Amino acid sequence: MTHSAAPVARAFQRCINADCKAEFPVDEVLVACKSCGQLLDVAYEWRRDAIPSLKAFETRSATRGPRNAAGDTPTSSMLDFSGVWRFRELLPFYSCEADIVTLGEGRTNLQRADLLARELGMDVDHGGRVMLQYEGFNPSGSFKDNGMTAGFTHARMVNATRVACASTGNTSAALAVYAALAGMKCFVFIGDGKIAYGKLSQALEYGATTLQVAGDFDACLARVKHIAEKMPEVGVYLMNSINPFRLEGQKTIMLRILEGLDWQVPDWILVPGGNLGNCSAFAKAFLELKALGLVTKIPRLAIIQAKGARTLDRVVNELGMKWTPNSNSPASGAAGINPDLTGRFDHDAIAREYARMDAANERAKTVATAIEINRPVNLTKALRALWAMNGVVRSVDDPEIVEHKALVGKYGFGCEPASGASVAGVRLLRTEGLIKPTDTVACVLTGHLLKDPDVTVAYHTGLETKAAAVDLSHAKPHGRISNPPIKVADDLEAILKAMGVR
Ligand code: F0G
Repeated sequence: MTHSAAPVARAFQRCINADCKAEFPVDEVLVACKSCGQLLDVAYEWRRDAIPSLKAFETRSATRGPRNAAGDTPTSSMLDFSGVWRFRELLPFYSCEADIVTLGEGRTNLQRADLLARELGMDVDHGGRVMLQYEGFNPSGSFKDNGMTAGFTHARMVNATRVACASTGNTSAALAVYAALAGMKCFVFIGDGKIAYGKLSQALEYGATTLQVAGDFDACLARVKHIAEKMPEVGVYLMNSINPFRLEGQKTIMLRILEGLDWQVPDWILVPGGNLGNCSAFAKAFLELKALGLVTKIPRLAIIQAKGARTLDRVVNELGMKWTPNSNSPASGAAGINPDLTGRFDHDAIAREYARMDAANERAKTVATAIEINRPVNLTKALRALWAMNGVVRSVDDPEIVEHKALVGKYGFGCEPASGASVAGVRLLRTEGLIKPTDTVACVLTGHLLKDPDVTVAYHTGLETKAAAVDLSHAKPHGRISNPPIKVADDLEAILKAMGVR
């Protein structure tokens, strides 16, 4: 296969709203469609036969050098080492390989978990399988590294020097690692008392300017989005999952699941839903693979939310919101290699629902802080994902989350609370009869067990350490290169001052 992206496809950005469909160049920095404000996709015009088969990727799992310094021009062995970039022809938005920022992320494992499968009600003896896609193996310990390498590649393409995100923890940890290695200034916005210490420790250690804003994740995201979009003089490149380039990297989790199943498509993919970037990326991966003729079937998707942060579950299952595709589903195979992935959705109804939540002061609350999000920015793309993958959305409560997390640990893997939601989802969908006992299901274990040790210790001992809610304003750092978080009011001027840009 060619090593240059250029001949594989033409890349551009396209609004997902079928009534708009505005297109923008791939090297334009946008956080939303300039015409209608909706989400953007990275879109491709693929060359016919660009990728003859998925098997061709198998030869690229390099374990030998030469390696480049992190953040330096990657060698082809480094690209092949990365579990993201060895699939580079399937995310060909970059203009040259020198722009790729990689740390060798995505070398993760798809583990067959028969003992766990039996506990969840699968018929292992007759072919029922639970496969755990263990993303804790990533450099920063969560699946976010898959997208961050792609986001930083775009950031470098457009000569960004400052990057920022709002985060429940993992995105900030991943952002801070890549920024440190790529030599970019990094701002992390975290909510007040809403971050597991494993994740906070990473942002501080990797040198991010960490602002603890007096508000929740949704408030942090609104602030950082405003600064990135409306204040070009500050010059921050936004790394939240509204950034469509990040989602290109997250697609590769699906490729590795397929590879782990010897390119057989599982019956189900289960993923926890927070800001809903990942489920969106997974569906885009399958829509593209199907259109390119690289898979013959698309698995069903289950997005599992926490009961205390179940906005998608509510809008789909109670308010009946859905995605109406603009054209033939690529799933039918009738749409050609460059299908129209735009569609229609009731954005007024979504805006009304978010306004109602604001008025009622509804705040997300769950032990799985990673997915403690009430206004998911990728909601419309998640509706598309549910359409594309014949998907369902469900929610599970906190005791179910921690118990299924503990079950994953008991059988030898380990994950953080949010990841436990996808495993709890298997049991729920088995009980409902949607997952059949002989199905093959793949659960994405999104983050490492050690990301949030407090929840684990609390579960096993009954002792609440409450570290995640400690008030950082009393911190008195004394190290030579201490990098304490900055507590700041939920106020634009105060935030800009704390960022050091005022
Ligand atoms: N699992 C973990 C461990 C996460 O950190 C996240 C999201 C999710 C699942 C949900 O993924 O947002 O694509 O639906 N964490 C974000 C963060 C929001 O800031 O780290 P999603």
